[in-house]
Amino acid sequence: MTGRAGAILRSGRLVAFPTETVYGLGANALDASAIEAVFVAKGRPATDPLIVHVSSAEQAEALTTQWTPDAAALAKAFWPGPLTLVLPKSPIIGDSITAGRPTVALRVPNHPVAHSLIEAAGVPVAAPSANRFGRISPTTAAHVADELAGSYELLLDGGPTTIGVESSVVDLSTGRPVLLRPGGVTLEALRRLVPEIEFVERKSRAEAAAADSPGQFLRHYSPRTPLVVVDGGDTLVAELHASLRDESVQVSVLDLSEEPDVAARELYARLRNADSSRSALILAPVYADSGIGRAVNDRLFRAAHGRVAGDSTKKTVTDLARLSLEPT
Ligand code: TXA
Ligand code: MG
Repeated sequence: MTGRAGAILRSGRLVAFPTETVYGLGANALDASAIEAVFVAKGRPATDPLIVHVSSAEQAEALTTQWTPDAAALAKAFWPGPLTLVLPKSPIIGDSITAGRPTVALRVPNHPVAHSLIEAAGVPVAAPSANRFGRISPTTAAHVADELAGSYELLLDGGPTTIGVESSVVDLSTGRPVLLRPGGVTLEALRRLVPEIEFVERKSRAEAAAADSPGQFLRHYSPRTPLVVVDGGDTLVAELHASLRDESVQVSVLDLSEEPDVAARELYARLRNADSSRSALILAPVYADSGIGRAVNDRLFRAAHGRVAGDSTKKTVTDLARLSLEPT
C-alpha cells in the first residue's frame, strides 16, 4: 500500500498520512509544483514555510549546511519523534518550502506508516498538518477527509494519532536556540540537553501579534464557534456559565483530562465536537502550564484568537454574550 503511495508522491501528487502528532498532507519536497499544490489545497499563505519529513538523522543532515552539535544531540535523543529542527538549508531545498528563508525545518516522525511512506517515496516529504489554513488540526483520517477531500490522491488511515498536538519546533539556525512552537517534546526535556533554549510565552494578544516567527499566527487551530480561554479555575468557569445562561447564551465547556498526555491527545477532537454542538460559545479553562500542557495552552490561546476571560464582571459577561453572536 505504501509502495503505491510512494509512487504517487514521486509523481508530484499528494498523499495524506498519519504521524504520531497529527495527520500531514504530503508532497515530494524536491518538486516545486507539488509544493505549490499543498499551499493551494490548504489555502495557506506562501509566507508560512513547510516542515520536511525524512526517515533518519542522516537524511536530515544531508538537507542542511550546518549539522550542529545541538542538532546531533537533540536528534539522537528525540528522533524519531515529535521534534522539528530549524537549520540552515541546503541548496537542494527550494525557496517555496522555506518561504524564501535561508533555513529549513526538518523532522523524523515516529509512525510506522509515515516511515514506510518516506522510504517508499525515496525523497524527502514536505507536509503541513492536513487541515485548511487556520483551522483545527486533524488527528484522525476522517478529520482529513472532512476538510480536504479532493485535494489529495490518497489518504492513508493509521487510526487516531497518539500525541495529538504538533511537534515542538526548535530553531538552531542562529546560535541562540529558541523554541518557536511548544509541542510533543516538552521544554523541560529539551533543556536537559540544551539548557539555553529560550521560550517566550505569548500571554496577550499584543505579545502574540509581535511574534516574529513564521506560522505563529494568533488566529490558528480555530473552531467556527467563538472560543474564550478562562483563567480563573473551575469557580470562574461555573460563574460565567451561569451568567451567560441567564443571557440565553448556549455555552459549552471544553472539559479536558487532568492528565496532560490525555488532554493533548484529545484536544483537537474535543474542539471539533464542541464546534459541532449547537452552542454559540466555547469556554476553555486554562491548562496547567508545564510539560505538554504548555502546548495545549498555546493551542487554546490561538483557538481563542488571544481572548482570555479573567473575571465574571457584568462587562465581561456582556462582551462574551456579544461575541457569541458574531458571525465566524
Ligand atoms: O507535528 C507536526 O509538526 C506536523 C506533522 C504533520 O509533522 N506538521 C505540522 O506542520 O504541524 P505545519 O505546517 O502545520 O506547521 C509547521 C510549523 C509552522 O509553524 C511553520 O511556520 C514552522 O513549522 N516552520 C517551518 N519551516 C520553518 C522555518 N524555516 N523557520 C521557522 N519556522 C518554520
Ligand atoms: Mg498546522
